[in-house]
Amino acid sequence: MNIRLARVEDLQGMQACNLQNLPENYTLKYYLYHALSWPQLSYVAEDEKGRIVGYILAKMEEDIGPDDEPHGHVTSISVLRSYRRLGLAKRLMVQSQEAMATVYRAAYVSLHVRKSNRAALALYKDTLGFTVKDIEKRYYADGEDAYAMRLSLKHLA
Ligand code: ACO
Repeated sequence: MNIRLARVEDLQGMQACNLQNLPENYTLKYYLYHALSWPQLSYVAEDEKGRIVGYILAKMEEDIGPDDEPHGHVTSISVLRSYRRLGLAKRLMVQSQEAMATVYRAAYVSLHVRKSNRAALALYKDTLGFTVKDIEKRYYADGEDAYAMRLSLKHLA
């Protein structure tokens, strides 16, 4: 399985993958905004026929307060069911994190995840070393709370 930078022609495949895997979906325009604004931060995993089986859609946070540092944000990541537990999400995250740190000097990366999302929590906490910064009550449209998580990238800069 190959991991490579996402290109504009991949965006529909990424959106299709997202629709299969998550209830949080986005317009194609929002994917395009990521790809055009931060072309180094989003990646895809493709099978041997070039079909997209996973993606990470990521950006630099735009609204940062005066006391905050520049940081990256993972808008969405997912891997198609039959390609899970192969290490693809870990590789997608690491690639994007490295680019956040080296291209944009991001001090850390943030993300939101459902409190009930066991697989993603294990990936973020146990595999990658994220910590819970906050709990955002009723963050999701169905009322579920989110963990706001962070990982320092200072060692990569
Ligand atoms: N149960 C427990 N731990 C898990 C699981 C699981 N189902 N899946 C991954 N992990 C942990 C393990 O520690 C794993 O290491 P190991 O396989 O050596 O034990 C580690 O994470 C790395 O796993 P990967 O193989 O890299 O993860 P995968 O490619 O399977 O993708 C993902 C994980 C993205 C969470 C996948 O299950 C998925 O697409 N889920 C649905 C969509 C989703 O929830 N996306 C995240 C939403 S939050 C956001 O987008 C910011």
